[in-house]
Amino acid sequence: MLKFDEETTKLLEIAYQGGDVTRRRRKAFDALHLAEGDTVFDIGCGNGLLTEEIARAIGTTGRVIGVDPSADMRALASARCAAIPSAQIKDGVAGRLKLRDGEADKAVAVQVLEYLPDIPSAIDEAHRILRVGGRFVAVDTGCKTLDWFSDDKDRMQQVQAAWDHHYTEPRVAALWPRLTREAGFSAIEVEPFTFCDVTLRPDGIAFMLMHLMSRYTSENGHMTEADTRAWFDEQVALANEGRFFFSLTYYRMSAVKL
Ligand SMILES: C[S@@+](CC[C@H](N)C(=O)[O-])C[C@H]1O[C@@H](n2cnc3c(N)ncnc32)[C@H](O)[C@@H]1O
Repeated sequence: MLKFDEETTKLLEIAYQGGDVTRRRRKAFDALHLAEGDTVFDIGCGNGLLTEEIARAIGTTGRVIGVDPSADMRALASARCAAIPSAQIKDGVAGRLKLRDGEADKAVAVQVLEYLPDIPSAIDEAHRILRVGGRFVAVDTGCKTLDWFSDDKDRMQQVQAAWDHHYTEPRVAALWPRLTREAGFSAIEVEPFTFCDVTLRPDGIAFMLMHLMSRYTSENGHMTEADTRAWFDEQVALANEGRFFFSLTYYRMSAVKL
């Protein structure tokens, strides 16, 4: 699995404020239909950008609790939300949320379910903490939708196959309707949205993935550092020649507690 350590955290901090990841976060934000006074659980809150945005939207009478097992991520989230009394950042995991039954109005997990060893337990736990009528929103990667051009097809396939190891579940969106229905949710929805780039931007998802994927594939012994470097450099060269192409679909999912 991908390590959410200090180095990854630093990388994500830049990319997460870029246009692409901001759009991805906004998808979750919109589906939450936040209201003043809401109690919201941000599961796997990462560096806390969404937690902060939720805190603004629910006002001083609301409460948002962001949990994440990574100390490096929590440090950034805590610093970001330090001046906001309605936001709390805590150590925790998706399968064991420290809230009473029915205490939350909304729960959200952006790009978290795909990393979990036990997704059904996380969905059951979100259902437990939500009140009747409460809403659960998730965003996950359509891992099989990645369409990325290279003149070296074999090397590109090798990088993608190596990267596939970093998810625990590449089919979250396909599983969402059944898992949420079995947990007792209704009004179950899945909506795709795609990032398609023909230029390479330092703040974009493609550039972030180039860093994360090359680091992951070489550190985990899937490819040599020289090969991943060559793959990275080819993408930069393609961009300089106006031949860059990257397309990846994410899924926004939502469900309401019956
Ligand atoms: C790709 S990041 C997404 C962060 C944040 N939700 C966002 O979109 O900005 C995935 C996060 O899930 C967290 N995570 C990993 N395992 C988890 C678990 N079992 N329960 C909750 N969060 C987890 C990681 O530490 C990391 O911060």
